[in-house]
Amino acid sequence: MCGIIGYTGSNNSINILMSGLSALEYRGYDSAGIAYFDENNSIQTIKSSGRLSSLSEKISDRQISSLCGIGHTRWATHGKPSDINAHPHSSSTVSLVHNGIIENYAKIKSFLKSHGYDFLSETDTEAAALLLDYNYKILKYPIKAIAGTSAMLEGSYAFAILFSDIPDTIYALRHDSPLILGVGAGENFAASDITAKKKKTKNYIALEHGEIGCIKSDKIEVVDFSANIIKKPVLTASWNFEQAQREGYEHFMLKEINEEPQSIINTLHPRIKEELPDFSCDSIDFDRIINSERIHIIACGTAMHAGLIGRMLIEKYAKIPVNVEIASEFRYNNPILSKNDTAIIISQSGETADSLAALRLAKSLKAYTVAVVNVIGSSIAREADSVLYTWAGPEIAVASTKAYSVQTSLLCLIAIQMGILRNTIDIRFARKIVSELVSDIPEIIKSIINKSEIIHETAKRISKSDDIFFIGRGADYYLSEEGSLKLKEISYIHSEAYPAGELKHGTISLIENNVPVIAIATSEYLISKTISNLRETKSRGALTILICNEKFNFDDIDIVIKLPAVSEDLAFLPTVTILQLLAYYTALERACDIDKPRNLAKSVTVE
Ligand code: M6R
Repeated sequence: MCGIIGYTGSNNSINILMSGLSALEYRGYDSAGIAYFDENNSIQTIKSSGRLSSLSEKISDRQISSLCGIGHTRWATHGKPSDINAHPHSSSTVSLVHNGIIENYAKIKSFLKSHGYDFLSETDTEAAALLLDYNYKILKYPIKAIAGTSAMLEGSYAFAILFSDIPDTIYALRHDSPLILGVGAGENFAASDITAKKKKTKNYIALEHGEIGCIKSDKIEVVDFSANIIKKPVLTASWNFEQAQREGYEHFMLKEINEEPQSIINTLHPRIKEELPDFSCDSIDFDRIINSERIHIIACGTAMHAGLIGRMLIEKYAKIPVNVEIASEFRYNNPILSKNDTAIIISQSGETADSLAALRLAKSLKAYTVAVVNVIGSSIAREADSVLYTWAGPEIAVASTKAYSVQTSLLCLIAIQMGILRNTIDIRFARKIVSELVSDIPEIIKSIINKSEIIHETAKRISKSDDIFFIGRGADYYLSEEGSLKLKEISYIHSEAYPAGELKHGTISLIENNVPVIAIATSEYLISKTISNLRETKSRGALTILICNEKFNFDDIDIVIKLPAVSEDLAFLPTVTILQLLAYYTALERACDIDKPRNLAKSVTVE
């Protein structure tokens, strides 16, 4: 979390830093700050708790002229959001912004205190800044001081640094946490991701773990800790950055839900030939996947929920056992993996710290690693053995929506391909599902979005509730998990998801008058079971809501939201759109900050 930007060039750095921070604000919005060289080449710092707009207000009444500076938008880890805890953190020799966590900051702090240093903030970052000051005073050279500091720090961190006696240069260090260097004409950048310098250049260098960037207006050098130059390719971002605008939608989340149909088409179309999967444009070793003893799908949050759908489809079509693991658990649970396994890491951002660590662990255990990632050139995409990109375009709202749709559609195509290669799926059935996936599903999702009145009405009915429960069986339970996460994330209503048959083993004691229970029942085989469970809650006073196929009628259920006709195997796609819209409208009714819910950040680059 946290966003870093740095600029050096011939333009006024302040506007560029502020526009970069605005693009990075999705990474955290507890506070923001900048440090820059003024006309007299001394470093000035301005910072403010709260949203970037508070920093803008502080800056607006000053006439600042500066050609080089760094900026930061914070997701608080150590120390509450406040002006003092906001970055940059500085000494007389350095100013530093940080994304990540310094795990041994307490030890560093006491070491520095014993050398006469005073601390102003409660942050781990200030320990890194003052340690750099300490080392710079002894070692005299920036690279030596950065390398010496890094050797003493534990944790994950990306830094952008100004040295007060080197007025035109930004130093950037990557140690796990992401950092890229933007390559412009007569101006250069450091940034947490490419969106931060989208208006200036699409060209960038991806800094790797342990690399230091020395960024001047006319050149960028990347060096190792011994100051040896490392030759790095200049990459070009292929996103159309205009996509990252709201384009008249009230919220990014609603815009991104509306983009689901096209995102699914963009992701699947290049991988379909004659109505069958064709992954020849991806460098992926399907032989190795289908001969795996076991497949592990590892991810966090919504991406993990997409993995649950992936498991269901792979086991159904290809008959290979699949484990779905939460990345933060997987990495510390001594997982049993070998060269005979495949690990599929799913991540929208490609930067989630736990997912990245899980990928590295799976690789170290010799498993074949495949990344399903949306952000091109992100760490997970770069480090996996193979990468399958989802083509959803930038997802800005913190609540993930279109990323889930493209992840699950791509997993469906992968499962079909595996089934074909293993001869475990009928080819005519495969053609039917593929063509429905790419042709009918986008239209069905559009029809749901266009006729969302009943979803909005339902949202109004549930928006005053304190607790909401989701139930379902099989895929419908996995969808319940996602619906519940989305709802609590943006509306702040407490919510839980349960396998429908499990409620009566304890949780049903929480059901009282008017508590909404939302049942998802897209499987004909299971619907009568789920309805019985829903009725069990109704007889205890619940407000019952059912999402089911259009052909079913249940007069005793309070609200029924019907899905258009769709194959059961693909019902998860339109159903998730309904759940996302339900969460969206509920949060809207409660006047929540939908795109930037409290305490959250889009990209979780700390563990
Ligand atoms: O970028 P990733 O897909 O790796 O992110 C994983 C989760 O942090 C993310 O899906 C999170 O759960 C969303 N905010 C949920 O809407």
